[in-house]
Amino acid sequence: MSTGPEIARRRTFAIISHPDAGKTTLTEKLLLFAGAIQIAGSVKARKASRHATSDWMEIEKQRGISVASSVMQMEYRDCVINLLDTPGHQDFSEDTFRVLTAVDAALMVIDAANGVEAQTLRLLDVCRARGTPILTFVNKMDREVREPLELMDEIERVLGMSAVPFTWPVGMGKRFHGVYDLRRDRMRVFRAGAEHLDEVHDDIIEGLDNPVSVERFGAEYATAQGEIGLLRDASPEFDRQEFLDGKQSPLFFGSAVNNFGVREVLDALVDLAPTPGPRVAIQRSVDPAEEKFSGVVFKIQANMDPAHRDRIAFVRVCSGRFDRGMRLKVCRNGKELRPNTVVSFLSQRREIVDTAYAGDIIGIPNHGTLQLGDTLTEGEDLQFTGLPYFAPESFQAVEVADPLKIKQLRIGLQQLGEEGAIQVFKPADGSALLLGAVGQLQFEVVVHRLKTEYGVAARLAGSRYKLARWITCDDPLELRRFIDANQHRIAYDVVEAPAFMAAYESELRVAAELAPKIKFHALREHA
Ligand code: G4P
Repeated sequence: MSTGPEIARRRTFAIISHPDAGKTTLTEKLLLFAGAIQIAGSVKARKASRHATSDWMEIEKQRGISVASSVMQMEYRDCVINLLDTPGHQDFSEDTFRVLTAVDAALMVIDAANGVEAQTLRLLDVCRARGTPILTFVNKMDREVREPLELMDEIERVLGMSAVPFTWPVGMGKRFHGVYDLRRDRMRVFRAGAEHLDEVHDDIIEGLDNPVSVERFGAEYATAQGEIGLLRDASPEFDRQEFLDGKQSPLFFGSAVNNFGVREVLDALVDLAPTPGPRVAIQRSVDPAEEKFSGVVFKIQANMDPAHRDRIAFVRVCSGRFDRGMRLKVCRNGKELRPNTVVSFLSQRREIVDTAYAGDIIGIPNHGTLQLGDTLTEGEDLQFTGLPYFAPESFQAVEVADPLKIKQLRIGLQQLGEEGAIQVFKPADGSALLLGAVGQLQFEVVVHRLKTEYGVAARLAGSRYKLARWITCDDPLELRRFIDANQHRIAYDVVEAPAFMAAYESELRVAAELAPKIKFHALREHA
């Protein structure tokens, strides 16, 4: 049977936002609308229960941040929507970057009081680099926030693309009256708090010049009317291709906590967001509708459930169809895998998957067979590209007090390194292992996890290094010579890729001048 119709109804996206903008709340409302959960509060509860059941998330609780990403699948209007959660805290941005490689679109949530915030910017860079289409939801209109035109202007400036309003707010804060739907030419009147899921109970006023609105909402309505008039004259028409090319972003306003303006976003995801597209492998481009299965590991999470000391590889299905029990080849080493308990994730409840199609995310429990960036196929040799590793921005040497634990330390660090929780570098001169992180908090998480998951009391001992650059050279002999001449500054990462370590930019500059044929990379793509 052709997989075409199943793939055509897939929409796979991630929500990106700065912490506290309302990502969790919006996720919950989307699930509620789609009927995937019945009771409001369950996603929040999940946030809470994760803390209770999982030890290492203790840190998350202390910091009030979301460390782990997960995946939720829901059905809405005959579409299967895969929603990938991303950690908002900047120290976990590496993980988030990788999650973004697995989606076809992103939904950006902005706190209307704060506009586009720092963390969102970094995530946007990744989306832009990949040409990922972005929808924008401006949240918290029930508060005293910034003027919508000003916000729109900022979004356009920061995104470097035009924002095309699909809805427009009438008032804000205590005088937030609702949103005007520019496509359907009607206003939906705001009601606070209510979990109204069907349109039947909506209070709708048709037409922009309806005297009822003017009378009911007074000055706020007049302002919105004027703004909408202006937008209609000045804003570009929505062009789906421009959106798909990452040049236009449809813009929505609402209040997630009040479940208001959320349905419009969900509808837009179904109507506008792309179906799974082709993915690039070193060998060729892979079309989702190809008959044979292929997939790529974009995230590894160790010990999700402390009761089963397992690791779950999150695989984005890139083409064809996955059936439980099918034979898969790990292209990196040719090993065969026959996963019988492949899981999907819904509100942290693991469900066994029988079938999955291109665009879906499946979780394969394993004991280290699968690594970040691995490609799985039915036999063909393929390697998908594009999984980014960023050069760490801080380093710590790691030691153990008890020498008998050195082996455990190495095992733990190897696994945590493969998972991408931290980068581990082995200095060529045999000195203590170096941990490299993009954010400081990663160190704390790793020390905590080494203790709770591997029984190793590790100590961070500081490091003089501040920079690492992966090195390559077209001439292998030249590379060898460079490595031999710089032994004390070379370290190897978990996949044995050599890196040049430096304490100062100037050291890096000198090295680059002395060895012009060596290329220094701040980003390594898995290949
Ligand atoms: P995050 O995942 O992006 O970090 O944000 P989250 O959804 O946890 O929301 C952050 C805070 O903002 C929460 O308040 C949440 O209730 C609130 N919030 C979300 N959407 C809206 C909205 O539309 N309007 C208003 N006024 N607030 C909103 P909290 O006090 O941190 O948590 P809680 O006690 O409400 O759970």
